[in-house]
Amino acid sequence: MKIGILGATGLAGKSITRQVVAGKTGKAMLLGRNRARLELLREELLPEAASLPDIAVIDLKKQESLKRAFEKIDILVIAVSSAEHLPAVVRAALDTKTDCLDILLCSKAKRDFLASMRTMFEKLGLCYITDGGYHPGVPAAMARWAETLCPGLRSVDIFGSFGLKWQKNSVTHETLLDFMRELKAMDMSVLQDREWLSSWKHVKRFDFRDGRGKQDCAAMGMDEIQLLTGVIPTLKNAGFYIAGFGRPIDWAFMPLSLAALHLFPKTERHVARFFRWGLERFGPDTEWAILHCTAQGDTGSIEIAASYPDPYAFTALPVIACLKQYADTPRRPGLWHQALYVEPERFWLDLQVMGVKITCSTNPKA
Ligand SMILES: NC(=O)c1ccc[n+]([C@@H]2O[C@H](COP(=O)([O-])OP(=O)(O)OC[C@H]3O[C@@H](n4cnc5c(N)ncnc54)[C@H](OP(=O)(O)O)[C@@H]3O)[C@@H](O)[C@H]2O)c1
Repeated sequence: MKIGILGATGLAGKSITRQVVAGKTGKAMLLGRNRARLELLREELLPEAASLPDIAVIDLKKQESLKRAFEKIDILVIAVSSAEHLPAVVRAALDTKTDCLDILLCSKAKRDFLASMRTMFEKLGLCYITDGGYHPGVPAAMARWAETLCPGLRSVDIFGSFGLKWQKNSVTHETLLDFMRELKAMDMSVLQDREWLSSWKHVKRFDFRDGRGKQDCAAMGMDEIQLLTGVIPTLKNAGFYIAGFGRPIDWAFMPLSLAALHLFPKTERHVARFFRWGLERFGPDTEWAILHCTAQGDTGSIEIAASYPDPYAFTALPVIACLKQYADTPRRPGLWHQALYVEPERFWLDLQVMGVKITCSTNPKA
């Protein structure tokens, strides 16, 4: 299987590429806008590569350049900064019958666009997997695994926390801008008694038992969590909650930046720079990524925790686990979410084999 990675030179793209070239699944083709950066990446990868990956320089505004590259691959992993150019990418993917998996943030623009393409994917037999990566990407797969181990779940809460050394991991300005826009539009919906409700009060304190003590975690509405009621019919309460970036960011830089974005939307580039400075100056000096699921239901309760020391590797590994299933199960055309596309037991087993630390404890009802 030939896997194209669009945005291979980015932090997430590099991490995914590293896993692919290390022989985890298929052969890699690096797609990007800058030949020098792509060649530098290929050189970096040489010592760990089972075979030298191909390179394709693309221009997201030029259909021909996309189609030329897509003709040489089976599936495209989309790891660019934002969904801005997604319509052009999807058009070329449809023309060349190239399946796709994106790890982009689940924004309204992306959701609306993909929903409008759903029938086309089905009609033309294209498999499009959206919301790949770690979050989005893993939380609903965690809930689905919990349901297989402890059927009849009524409540599921999933908590996430990650730390990144922002000085070392310099995301592009486009990615940070997209992140700020999503933060501004953040939906804080949770399922309460079978009803989706949004409120800024949806904050829970949670102890990840990682030595950092209890942390405030804010609800973050994600499509994959909303879709859970379709696969766990007993579900009455559910939510995904994300821990903050640390006090200086959560209490000063974040509210100031959000206020500025609302009051002076035209200054978003400056606000993003200010926020980046805050992250680099006051953000964490260690790295981690944890997801923790706590669920209760008819047959008992269950807790699952998954962690990995490097957040970008924790973004890449679920993509690889999903691609493994894509590669050796019959093609399923249509629009999927990674967390709902995967068969959960195998997904979790593969993640564990790839080094993700997973603990699971069940407490069956007497
Ligand atoms: N689901 C998850 O768990 C998860 C986790 C982390 C990130 N993400 C998402 O993954 C994406 C990448 O994040 P990141 O942190 O890796 O960002 P990043 O380091 O800033 O990388 C962005 C990549 O996009 C490329 N790019 C941006 N604009 C482009 C354009 N117009 N044409 C061609 N290439 C373009 C950049 O190319 P250059 O190198 O040429 O600048 C770079 O390769 C973002 O959408 C982010 O939200 C998802």
